[in-house]
Amino acid sequence: MPAVERPLIYANLRKPGYTVDLDCYLRHGGYEALRKAVALKPEDVCKEVETSGLRGRGGAGFPTGMKWKFLDRKSGKPAYLVVNADESEPGTYKDRQIIYKDPHQMLEGIAITAWAIQAKQAFIYIRGEFIHGAKILERAIAEAKAKGFLGQNILGSGYSCEVVVHRGGGCYVCGEETGLIESLEGKRGYPRIKPPYFPAVLGLYNCPTIVNNAEPMAQVKHVLAFGGAEFAKIGIPGDSGTHIWGVSGLVKRPGLYEIEAGKATFGELLYDLCGGPLDGRKIKAIIPGGSSTKILKVGERFKGKLANAPSSTGRSRHPPRLQQHRRVRHGLGTAAPSSSTTPSR
Ligand SMILES: Cc1cc2nc3c(=O)[nH]c(=O)nc-3n(C[C@H](O)[C@H](O)[C@H](O)COP(=O)(O)O)c2cc1C
Repeated sequence: MPAVERPLIYANLRKPGYTVDLDCYLRHGGYEALRKAVALKPEDVCKEVETSGLRGRGGAGFPTGMKWKFLDRKSGKPAYLVVNADESEPGTYKDRQIIYKDPHQMLEGIAITAWAIQAKQAFIYIRGEFIHGAKILERAIAEAKAKGFLGQNILGSGYSCEVVVHRGGGCYVCGEETGLIESLEGKRGYPRIKPPYFPAVLGLYNCPTIVNNAEPMAQVKHVLAFGGAEFAKIGIPGDSGTHIWGVSGLVKRPGLYEIEAGKATFGELLYDLCGGPLDGRKIKAIIPGGSSTKILKVGERFKGKLANAPSSTGRSRHPPRLQQHRRVRHGLGTAAPSSSTTPSR
């Protein structure tokens, strides 16, 4: 069966006439998940996210709920939420779409996450070049504050959280979480040494900090809407929800594709959804997830303990699953496959 999309994060933003306005978001069920979240205890929201099996989307795919558990709650210092919207990995352009076309979806997830980890201050660290995106977010934050979804006394809960948009300088290394924190503090964006600088313990201003990519913030809204256990049924065990694949290179239909996790092979993504290579060309290799992932050559065999190995980047039956890739010491990074083609002559 050919690969199909399952839009969750991009479901609304692709609808004709959908706008970034709060009214439009509310007409599409916006901020209902936040209402649900603030009626729960923060620790119960954390449990829902843990049960959902949601993983990070900034590159390493670390389980989001587990990361929140690591937050040092005993120090008595304020906790911060930092949303990584630096999106500087070459070929990666999935977060930008959320910010530019459905900012409230991300803001709702931020409010839910902030409530869960009891952060009273959240920062969105946005790539410097996304000038228009920063303006869209600032406008959306003002709208959300005016209606009580952010700011003081969120939805009458007595809980308050301010969100500040911070534009980075446009520097790749500032996407790395500790470099980002340095940059947010106004210093040169130079990564910190771990240990001791694990953000969950010694993060922003040496306070406990959760750094999450922009996309999981949007996913968190759906975790609350579905409930953790139902969300976990989307995708496959160990990798739940959807992945947004940003395909670049000389294929017929490059672009963003949202697919249920683990439900399509690279071959299906590149041929069924992207239409295959341009006429007269053959796929030679792909970079699966930004420049920090290994180049996969057509015909290359993985060495590992995969149940369905070997695999290749052609019309492979091997699905681009996060877990399986990890077992062969390979990452999907930011899910941004760039295909390199060669003339078929
Ligand atoms: C050099 C480098 C650049 C990175 N750039 C980004 C980036 O642009 N956006 C991002 O979300 N994560 C980036 N990361 C990963 C972050 O350090 C961090 O793991 C991530 O923001 C955590 O979010 P997640 O748990 O949702 O994946 C980068 C990591 C490295 C090493």
